[in-house]
Amino acid sequence: MLILAIESSCDETAASVSLDGRKILSNVVYSQIDMHALYGGVVPEIASRKHAEKITAVAEQAMNQAGVRFSQLDAMAATCAPGLIGALLVGANFAKAASLMLDKPFIPVHHIRGHIAANYVAFPELEPPFTALVASGGHTLIVDVRDYTDMEVLGTTRDDAAGEAFDKIARVLSLPYPGGAALDRLGQGADPKKYRLPRAVVSGHPYDFSFSGLKTAAVNLTHNAAQKGEEIDRAALAAAVSDAVADSVVPRVVAAAREKGRTSLCAAGGVAANSVLRRRLQQACDKAGIKLYLPPLSLCGDNGAMIACQAYYEYLAGNVSDSSQNCYANMSVSETLCGR
Ligand code: KG4
Ligand code: ZN
Repeated sequence: MLILAIESSCDETAASVSLDGRKILSNVVYSQIDMHALYGGVVPEIASRKHAEKITAVAEQAMNQAGVRFSQLDAMAATCAPGLIGALLVGANFAKAASLMLDKPFIPVHHIRGHIAANYVAFPELEPPFTALVASGGHTLIVDVRDYTDMEVLGTTRDDAAGEAFDKIARVLSLPYPGGAALDRLGQGADPKKYRLPRAVVSGHPYDFSFSGLKTAAVNLTHNAAQKGEEIDRAALAAAVSDAVADSVVPRVVAAAREKGRTSLCAAGGVAANSVLRRRLQQACDKAGIKLYLPPLSLCGDNGAMIACQAYYEYLAGNVSDSSQNCYANMSVSETLCGR
């Protein structure tokens, strides 16, 4: 089954062609980051306009690279939730128009389910059930993946996502947006214990997170030092931030997997590219006897392949829609898009 999938939920215009889900024939990502970096964050209106400008060329490039003609496609798919609503609508409307024109099914895909599916692309042997850590710019979730389209949220963030904390702290360290990856690099080799930052725990809720305290503490530390005319050890602070995030997340996700009796754990989302988090997850899973799946960095951030892969499993589950399908800025990963 050949699917062309579009991802446009934030600041990447992406398209991919998948064959029977896991075989990715093309994966084209046009990043708008340079443009949003000028403003220190994603400007939704600009994101929508850029998606509208680029979507046709990106989709055509994905088709050309795959060596597939539109008439050969079996279905169209697009991310329909969650994300910037104007941005989502561009990708979904493109895919719906193509599905109408070709008289082929339209498959709406949940962005977080897509992130999880990046693991199916990277690891052909992987099958549910497993527990997943999804950490991106907008989400920090522990999800029990019971089946390809059957998911339970075990824990989530009460305020900021881990990626948001990384980006905000990176900004006060004068790193360009989005600063997560640069902060990760800056901290490498530095002493993570020089600064002590709060852990993102929520008392009484073992699988929930709160990253706002960590973010505020690091920002205040930097501002206080500046006011006193003191030099801050930027590398040590960056190392302390990655350390605090890993410390907050790793024991919780491993405990959740154990409670559910899962023997496999997957990481997903942009923050899953963090080197400290990856190392600590590996150590904790080795100790707990859990098999860890860490997708390559290229599949951690937003891309079309993860949507094209998940779309196949949504199709098999009967989650097929039509041109009346709407998009949603917020939606739980446990909900089904069709018929909403
Ligand atoms: O999944 P993603 O590409 O987009 C969303 O769906 O949000 O995640 C982007 C987030 C940004 O906050 C970015 O700074 C963060 O992932 N990120 C990292 C690293 N690479 C990307 N955070 C920490 N360490 C990294 N190496
Ligand atoms: Zn994402």
